[in-house]
Amino acid sequence: MTQPLWQKSGIQIDAKIMRFLAGDDVLLDREFFLHDITASKAHVEGLAHIDVVSIDEAAALKRELDALADDFRSGAFVLDDRYEDGHSAIEARLTERLGDAGRRVHTGRSRNDQVLVATRLWLKDKLVALETHCRAIAEVCLERAAQPAVPLPGYTHLQRAVVSSTAMWFAGFAEGFIDNALRARQTLALIDANPLGTAAGYGVNLKLDREHTTKALGFSRMQVSPIYAQLSRGKFEMAVLEAIASAMLDLRRLAWDLSLFTTAEFNFVKLPAEYTTGSSIMPNKRNPDVVELLRASYASVAAARTEIEQLLSLPTGYQRDLQFSKGSIFHGVRHGLMALELVPDLLARLQWNDEVMRAAIEPTMYATDVAIEQAAAGVPFRDAYRAAAEAAASAGAGRTPEASLAARTSPGAGDDLRLDELAARLAAIEPPVN
Ligand code: ARG
Repeated sequence: MTQPLWQKSGIQIDAKIMRFLAGDDVLLDREFFLHDITASKAHVEGLAHIDVVSIDEAAALKRELDALADDFRSGAFVLDDRYEDGHSAIEARLTERLGDAGRRVHTGRSRNDQVLVATRLWLKDKLVALETHCRAIAEVCLERAAQPAVPLPGYTHLQRAVVSSTAMWFAGFAEGFIDNALRARQTLALIDANPLGTAAGYGVNLKLDREHTTKALGFSRMQVSPIYAQLSRGKFEMAVLEAIASAMLDLRRLAWDLSLFTTAEFNFVKLPAEYTTGSSIMPNKRNPDVVELLRASYASVAAARTEIEQLLSLPTGYQRDLQFSKGSIFHGVRHGLMALELVPDLLARLQWNDEVMRAAIEPTMYATDVAIEQAAAGVPFRDAYRAAAEAAASAGAGRTPEASLAARTSPGAGDDLRLDELAARLAAIEPPVN
């Protein structure tokens, strides 16, 4: 490994201890290396504004930072354990290419605010992706909810309860994912604050141009308190994982429904063939593995959130414990977004087995309709309820699911799905900009 930035004469740290300190940190830093470079460019501009680097030095530093980004993208530069971390690699490269100008780049900054700013920039991109996926899922659900409805048993306790429909099922998930898109946007607003310039967590004796770096990096505001900039590490990562988890909770239910609906026992749904796999031993099998992994992905997001929460039992100020939050956040975000990205196509193409679903509507499922009709005609509801319970099977005779749905006048239920209202709510969420 190259000399750590903090190496002073006298102490040599044992290789085993160095390995423990470093862990896989430098490899994790690959994930937001480009964001670290972007923030470094803004920092260099800020330093030029206060004459810590000359205009020429700033131009050279920015040129080298761009070249480093290009080399990293092309693979000509590999971020590996030659460096303690990504932050050190940036300074090493600038020093190697530019000498003194490179040695000036860390003026007024700490790796503590460097990692904070890179993480926030990275997470902002991920929240845009989250919002985009949630929107796409909501849009497909709205489209499918507008297609002719097929009757579907509505379940409570997994027992057949009342008549529902494919359109109601889709409309339910549409509204859920509209909320999830809104949550992504609100979380983006929450984390959209610039920590760069707070240094090690206590500010510095330099008039850093924080307004410039805030604007140049596209943040809507600055994190004012350097102490809070550090205290908020972990907290803002958790906020993002919670926003993803909210979408993943809905996805877990949806995946659960589909894995039940695709069993021979239900046989309501046929998944597109490429979302199923075979068995290595049982030639007869087509398994809904993708749906199962969509369901499982919630666990990765929730676990990442929990790991970060456990790390945050800390006093004020930077502590190295916080480094472990990176692995969790990268892992949780990756699993969540990879799963959500698949959902629109899956939902657009799944096929309902209309006849089987229709046959699953039993006459007893009209009992609630019957009781409520009588109550509306003046019979006390409890009496109507008892009468319908006694005659449950015969009470429903001659009724159709279509008529039951048409009579369901609660907003959003039956035929009155209020899809336009939901679409307007989705349109009112500011679209993601990237
Ligand atoms: N890899 C470190 C982290 O993620 C970067 C900050 C190191 N700061 C320090 N004072 N050792 O937290």
